[in-house]
Amino acid sequence: AQTTVPVVVGAPEKDIVISKHIYGHFSEHLGHCIYDGFWVNENLNVPKKDRIRLDIVDALKKIKIPNLRWPGGCFADEYHWRDGIGPRKQRPVMINTNWGNVTEDNSFGTHEFLELCSLLGTEPYITGNVGSGTVEEMSKWVEYLNFDGVSPVTGIRKQNGHEKPFNVSFWGVGNESWGCGGNMSPEFYASQFKRYATFCKNYPNAQLKKIASGPNVDDYRWTETLMKEVPSWLMWGLSLHYYTVPKDWGNKGSATQFDEKEYFTTMQKCLYMDELVTKHSAIMDKYDPKKHVSLVVDEWGIWTNVEPGTNGAFLYQQNSMRDALVAATTLNIFNNHADRVRMANLAQTINVLQALVLTDKEKMLLTPTYHVFDLYQVHQNAHQLKLHFASPDYSVGDQKIPAVNGSASQDSSGAIHISLVNLDASKKISISALLPANAGAKVSARVLTAAAFNSYNSFDEPNKVVPAAFSDFKKDGSQLAVTLPPISVVVLTIQ
Ligand code: AHR
Repeated sequence: AQTTVPVVVGAPEKDIVISKHIYGHFSEHLGHCIYDGFWVNENLNVPKKDRIRLDIVDALKKIKIPNLRWPGGCFADEYHWRDGIGPRKQRPVMINTNWGNVTEDNSFGTHEFLELCSLLGTEPYITGNVGSGTVEEMSKWVEYLNFDGVSPVTGIRKQNGHEKPFNVSFWGVGNESWGCGGNMSPEFYASQFKRYATFCKNYPNAQLKKIASGPNVDDYRWTETLMKEVPSWLMWGLSLHYYTVPKDWGNKGSATQFDEKEYFTTMQKCLYMDELVTKHSAIMDKYDPKKHVSLVVDEWGIWTNVEPGTNGAFLYQQNSMRDALVAATTLNIFNNHADRVRMANLAQTINVLQALVLTDKEKMLLTPTYHVFDLYQVHQNAHQLKLHFASPDYSVGDQKIPAVNGSASQDSSGAIHISLVNLDASKKISISALLPANAGAKVSARVLTAAAFNSYNSFDEPNKVVPAAFSDFKKDGSQLAVTLPPISVVVLTIQ
C-alpha cells in the first residue's frame, strides 16, 4: 500500500538565503582531475583555450558552478606557488607524494587556474600551504594575486602577463592540518592559523574570506578549540570534511557492483552529514551566536574503490544513481542548514571520487551527480523555505532510515522550488504538500531516476541516467499532490 505523506511548506522564522557557494566544486592535482581532465595535451582533438578543455567548461557553465577549490586537498600543503608561474618550460618539476608519486610538471599553476575560473565564470577558492610552506610564502602569494600597486612580486605578475590583480577572495589556510596537512593538534593549528592568517593581507580591492582547516568528521574538540581560540574577525569560515564510504576504508566497496543492503548502508552513512552539521553548528553557536563564521564543507561525497585496472592513487570511480541520491540528499541537508553552512565543495570535479564529468581521451560524459547539480541550481541564492513532515521509513533487515528527504526555496521572481528525494528502492511515495499562500498557479517538474540504484552512464551509453520531464503531480488550490518513484530525485517549480 502506498503511504501519503502530508508536508507543509512554510517560511522559516528568519529570512535565510541559501548561498550559491553551497554548490561549489573541488579540483586537486590528483589523478586525472587537472592533468588529462581540465588541462589536456596540446594534441588532444577537443576544443581548447591554451590547454583548457572547453567542452568541459561549457558543461560546467550550464550548471553555474559558483566556486572552484584548488590546488588541494593534501596536495596544497606540499605546493609551492612560485614553481607554477612564469614560462612553462622553465618551471621546476616536483613529486606529487600524496597521489602516486607522479611527476608534477607545474604547467598548470596560478595563472592557468585563474584563467580556468574566468572561463567558467566561477570564483576561485585557493588553499595555501601551511604544512610545508612559510608565512612569507603564503603572504607573498596573496600579494601577487591581490595587490594593485608596485612591489617586487606584483612586478613579476605583470611580467607574467597580468597587469591588474586577480582579486581572489576565498582563502584556505592549510588543508586537513590534523592529517596530511601536518598532523597538528587543534591547539597548535589554532596558533598557526592566527599567525598565517594575520599576514594574508586584505588589500582594499580584495578582502579575503579566510577559511580555517576544520574538523575531520566528528572531531568536535577541533571545532571547540578553533572557535575558542580564533577571533571571528580573522576566520570567515571553518571547514569540515566528511566522505560517505559504503563499506570501510580498507575495502570501500565497488562504485557499481553492490546489493540493496550496501545501497542502504551508503544512504544511512550519507544521512550522517545532518548530525555532523547539526553538532558542529551547535558548538559554533556557543562561541558565535550571531553566526559570523561559516561552516564550509569543502570536501564531501562518496568514496568507493577505484575502477578495476586503474591506478589506486588516482581515485577514479564510476558514478551511479546511488551517487545522485547521495548528492541530492546532501544538498538538501546543506540547504536546510543554510544559516550556518554557507559554502561546500564536492570532491572532485573530473575523474576523481564523486565526479561530475568523466573523460576518456576525447570522450567525456556527464554523471548522474552532474544532473543533480543541474536540477538543484534553482536553489542558488534563493530564500530558504522549510518543509515540515515526518518521513515514512525505508527498512532493510532491522535497520531503518527516513525514505524521503527534501528542501525548498523561493527565488527573487517568487517561484518556489521543492527538491524531494525518495530513497526507497522499491516503493513509490505520495506526498501531499500544503503550499504557502503566495505560491503561483503553474507547476512544472523534472525527475532523475533509473532502472536500478547502480545504473550508470558509460562511454557506450552516456545517457542512461539523465533528467526527464515529470508529470506525476496534481495541484488543487494550495494543495499539491506528488508521487515520487522509487530511487528518485524530483524538483518541482511552482510559479
Ligand atoms: O579528496 C581527496 C583527499 O581527501 C584530499 O586530498 C584530502 O584533503 C582528503 O583526505
